[in-house]
Amino acid sequence: MATHEAEDFSQPVLPGDAGSDYERYLNTLGLLALQKGPDEWVHRDELLFQVVHQSSELWLKLAWNDVEEAVAHLGRDEGEAALRLLRRAALCLVYVTTQLDMLEQMSPWEYQEIRKVLGHGSGFDSPGWREIRRVTPALGQAFHALREQEGLSVVDVYVRGREHELLYQLAEALLEWDERISMWRVRHYKVVARVIGDSVVGTQGTPVEVLGRLIHHTFFPELWRARNDLTALSKET
Ligand code: HEM
Repeated sequence: MATHEAEDFSQPVLPGDAGSDYERYLNTLGLLALQKGPDEWVHRDELLFQVVHQSSELWLKLAWNDVEEAVAHLGRDEGEAALRLLRRAALCLVYVTTQLDMLEQMSPWEYQEIRKVLGHGSGFDSPGWREIRRVTPALGQAFHALREQEGLSVVDVYVRGREHELLYQLAEALLEWDERISMWRVRHYKVVARVIGDSVVGTQGTPVEVLGRLIHHTFFPELWRARNDLTALSKET
């Protein structure tokens, strides 16, 4: 009978130089080198500031990838699979919204020191948010194509929601996504107002008032408008 040597679980087996498979698989060496160190800080809260921004970019990366895949599912008439991903994507936005709380732990006066080393850096250039602005309209188009295929108006999807369960669930998932984006913007606006003020100009020259106006932007105005139509319709009947 062949004898098998016992596997030594303490030794890494994945390729790489780090001491353990945990560090090799997650590339913690690279990841943890992505923040400035104490010798480079103008203020030690640069670590807090970079951690919040970098982790936001990671959650946003997961979010837009899931939305993009959901769009592909909708194109193949796989509504349930799309729903599963849209739920996860919305949760990513919850995380990036709640972690904005951490930025309010910085002193607004001391943050002015950090601001001086940001150059022309602005959230308008956030890769995660840029991709979300790209995939979100595609999500709307994919949903409306399915709805039109069934010969239903947006109002029909709600009035006859019990007959068209999947389309109803999808419409609500889109609205959830849109609402979560707005909720992030509301929270971000408040953080900005609390940290640098609501009547100043950003590092890329944008007045903070512009952020206040963006709160009212929606990606799916037709889904919001449908609520008004439903209220009007119920008064007629
Ligand atoms: C102390 C914290 C922060 C401050 C003071 C701040 C400030 C600002 C300001 C002033 C703008 C207007 C554009 C400009 O810079 O001129 C802006 C836009 C933006 N910021 Fe921030 N920000 C903060 C944190 C964050 C975080 C954590 C994110 C996450 C990625 C972020 C993402 C964005 C985005 C996406 C915009 C474009 C506007 C929008 O789409 O609503 N910001 N921010």
